[in-house]
Amino acid sequence: MTEPTERSWEVFLEVYEALPRQGPGNRACAARALALCRDLPPSPAMLDMGCGVGGQTLHLAGLTTGPIVALDRHAPSIRRLGRTVVERGLSGRIRPVVGDMAGPALEPGSFDLIWSEGALYNIGIEHGLRLWSALLRPGGHIAFTDAVWRRKDPPDEVRAAFAQDYPQMGWTDDVLAAIERCGLELLGHFTLPDEAWWEDFYTPMAERVRVLQRKYPHDAEALGALESIGLEIELHRRHSACYAYEFFVVRRRD
Ligand SMILES: C[S@@+](CC[C@H](N)C(=O)[O-])C[C@H]1O[C@@H](n2cnc3c(N)ncnc32)[C@H](O)[C@@H]1O
Repeated sequence: MTEPTERSWEVFLEVYEALPRQGPGNRACAARALALCRDLPPSPAMLDMGCGVGGQTLHLAGLTTGPIVALDRHAPSIRRLGRTVVERGLSGRIRPVVGDMAGPALEPGSFDLIWSEGALYNIGIEHGLRLWSALLRPGGHIAFTDAVWRRKDPPDEVRAAFAQDYPQMGWTDDVLAAIERCGLELLGHFTLPDEAWWEDFYTPMAERVRVLQRKYPHDAEALGALESIGLEIELHRRHSACYAYEFFVVRRRD
C-alpha cells in the first residue's frame, strides 16, 4: 500500500473540509438518539467529541437548549465551525475547541451528555468510554456512532477498504460487550438508515469531487486522490449491505 503524498492529502482535505459533515449521520438520527437519553436536565451540559466541522453539533444545538463544547484536533474544522457559530448567532451556546479527545483539558464530572459521531473509534471504543465516563456527572450519558460489520463474508474489496481505514472494526455485539465491560447501562441502539450516508455526506462529497476534477484537470496527483474518494462512494453504493453505522446510547449507572 502506498502512503498518501502531501498533495493527495491536501486534496483529500479540500474535499472533506467543505462537506456539511465528515461521516454518516443526520438530524433525524440525532433526534432519535437524543430521545433514548433518560432524565436529562432541561438544559444539559454537552460535549461533542471529534465534532469535525460541526454538522451534528448544529443539530444538537437545534434539538436542545444546553451549552455545547465542540472539540476536534483538526484546527481548520474548528475554525470553520467557529465561523458558522458566529454567523448563526450561536456563540452563547456552542464553544468550538481544538483538543485531543484522548486527553481533553476539561473538568471531570462536568457534562450531562457526551456526543460523538464517527470519531470514538480513533481512540478505541473501550478506552474512550472509560476515559469519557470520568467527564460525566453521575447518571450522565454518552451517545456515539461506530461502524460495524453486517456480513461475515464481505467481498475482498470491502475487506481491503476497512483493513486500511478501520482494521479493528467489529460487530454490534462487540461494542455491546465493551459497553458492558465499562459498567455502563445500555439505553438503546439502532442502525443508521442509508439516507444518513447520502444526504449530508456522500452526495455532497460526490459533487465536491466533480468540482475539484474540473479545478485540477492537469494535476495527476489531485485526480488520483479524487478518484480514490470516488471509489469509496462507489464501494458504499454497491456493498452497503456488508457494513453499517450503529448509534449507541449509554449512561453511567450512578
Ligand atoms: C469521521 S470524522 C467525524 C466528524 C463529525 N463527528 C461528523 O460526524 O461529521 C472524525 C473526526 O474525529 C476527529 N479526531 C480523530 N481523532 C481525534 C482525537 N484524538 N482528538 C480529537 N479529534 C479527533 C477528526 O479530526 C475528525 O474530525
